[in-house]
Amino acid sequence: MRYPEEVIEEVRMRNDIVDVISGYVKLQKKGKDYFGLCPFHNEKSPSFSVSPGKQMYYCFGCGAGGNVITFIMEYENYSFTEALKLLADRAGMALPEKEYTKEERAGEDLRRTLLEINKLAANYFYYQLKHPQGRAGYEYLKKRQLTDDTIRHFGLGFANKTSDDLYRFLKEKGYSDEILKETGLVTIEEKGAHDKFWNRVMFPILDVNNRVIGFGGRVMGDGTPKYLNSPETRLFDKSRNLFGLNYARTSRENYLLICEGYMDVIAMHQAGFTNSVASLGTAFTSQHAALLKRYTSQVILTYDSDGAGVKAALRAIPILKEVGISVKVLNMRPYKDPDEFMKNLGPEAFRQRIEEAKNSFLFEIDVLKSLYDMEDPEQKTRFYQETARRLLEFPEALERDNYIQAVSKEHMIPYEDLRRLVNQLGSRMAPGSSASLRSSYSQEERKPSPKKDKEEGNRRSQRLLLTWLIENPKLFERIQGIITAEDFVEPLYQKVAQMVFQAYENHSLNPAQILNHFINDQEQYREVAALFNAGLNESLSNEEQKKAFSETVMKVKKHSLDQASRQAKDMKELQQIIQAQAALRSLHISLDEGTN
Ligand code: UTP
Ligand code: MN
Repeated sequence: MRYPEEVIEEVRMRNDIVDVISGYVKLQKKGKDYFGLCPFHNEKSPSFSVSPGKQMYYCFGCGAGGNVITFIMEYENYSFTEALKLLADRAGMALPEKEYTKEERAGEDLRRTLLEINKLAANYFYYQLKHPQGRAGYEYLKKRQLTDDTIRHFGLGFANKTSDDLYRFLKEKGYSDEILKETGLVTIEEKGAHDKFWNRVMFPILDVNNRVIGFGGRVMGDGTPKYLNSPETRLFDKSRNLFGLNYARTSRENYLLICEGYMDVIAMHQAGFTNSVASLGTAFTSQHAALLKRYTSQVILTYDSDGAGVKAALRAIPILKEVGISVKVLNMRPYKDPDEFMKNLGPEAFRQRIEEAKNSFLFEIDVLKSLYDMEDPEQKTRFYQETARRLLEFPEALERDNYIQAVSKEHMIPYEDLRRLVNQLGSRMAPGSSASLRSSYSQEERKPSPKKDKEEGNRRSQRLLLTWLIENPKLFERIQGIITAEDFVEPLYQKVAQMVFQAYENHSLNPAQILNHFINDQEQYREVAALFNAGLNESLSNEEQKKAFSETVMKVKKHSLDQASRQAKDMKELQQIIQAQAALRSLHISLDEGTN
């Protein structure tokens, strides 16, 4: 542990989970818990619950769950330490000096130092731009019609022609070669040190919290590469950051514009579209989508109008839809990109194009159409068939019909004809028929392996028993003398069981506190949170519940004894286990009888 446990626990206790989450999610009280729309996945009806009693949140839709600290970690994309700091501040607490392990101290220090160096470098580049040595850069940006305000707002700068001045500047500040290498700003070889960026205008890249995490540098003409970007470093993960999001996140529009490049974002912001972002020298990823989802559920793609831009849009659409963002595509023609559009037609015309932006499905159909020769009857038929196939992918009949209408209108296909085509195709592909796409997929996907299933069965029994005990501590009486925490052989469950059994002894079950022990591993704390929020078996009758309970107890014990017998060190131990196994068989009967 990095901070003493008591400190973490105090920070947690001083931040009521309902208070904190209410700042992010609109919550409504229902019974003893609160409910709202889950911020971690897309949904229309609330399945995200916050329990003041347990001081935990849990989403019955996507399984996200945890305590107040993990909430901040997941929502803000913060490390554990950052989340703890935010919550300590919020509660007006001062955190003590950290008890770091050596590596942790090194890691944290390195991150902080890298941020510090990046900030110094950004200031250095800006200073260059504003002084005679940066004249060329300044003039370049002016020629591209950026105002001084815009230059300042984005902190644009200039890396001058000297090949190691930034290196020397940073050395003078006292940084070691080793650290400087990690910034990606310099290369250090036997021959000497060189600045990575040289004779370029510089675009600092900020994360959503306005920290400089990297740079892009553009040549002032036709050299290659056109843009040189910082390599990925401990700070800079290209697939998790978007240029301009630090500003766009606070824009009042309820949608975001995604464009291709630095200059597009800057031109857009300058023209008043402060809700624009771009992915940086990399294709749009699902992490980008998840990041955007925190701020909006509507995106308009304003990619370049060339082939590459269309391709990028086709790639991004499903990724965005996957996280529940609805997507439209803006038509930039006849201009190449937003920067060019703005210069020629201006913001008013652009606003008009936003109004007219096309639903992503209809955009995809347009692109599809361009692949067929509509003069040729055969190709035209194939276009209709492919369109029908895609329409069939809408699972909801009403939605599908709306799209059939829209497509038929736009491509002048008689509505009834298109609808019939879709329905025909649908009945041919119905489940069970050999032409069914879906069933052939699913067969491939799942090849059950008996061994795996058994393992999962054992895990499930342990998980179930543990949640039962958590939800209903009275059950401890029934397992006394049969089950101990050590019978939960799955290491994660055993750790939880030990704490839960201990809590039972002390009459003090505190789910959110138990969760603190798993906070360093997202998979673990999610799974533990699920244990505390299973909301079990409301549908089972009393009789069934009793039966299920004793069967589960037996299963867990049997598995634990089986495992022990495999690991027994000597005959004596083995004999004891065999006796216990025999006892379990007779117990099986008595427990069942006891429930009748
Ligand atoms: P573009 O070539 O469209 O650049 O690449 P741009 O943003 O329109 O720039 P200007 O207007 O010509 O100055 C789009 C984005 O792709 C990345 C950059 O992030 C760029 O903004 N890119 C492009 C690179 O990383 N390296 C390159 O060599 C080119
Ligand atoms: Mn461009």
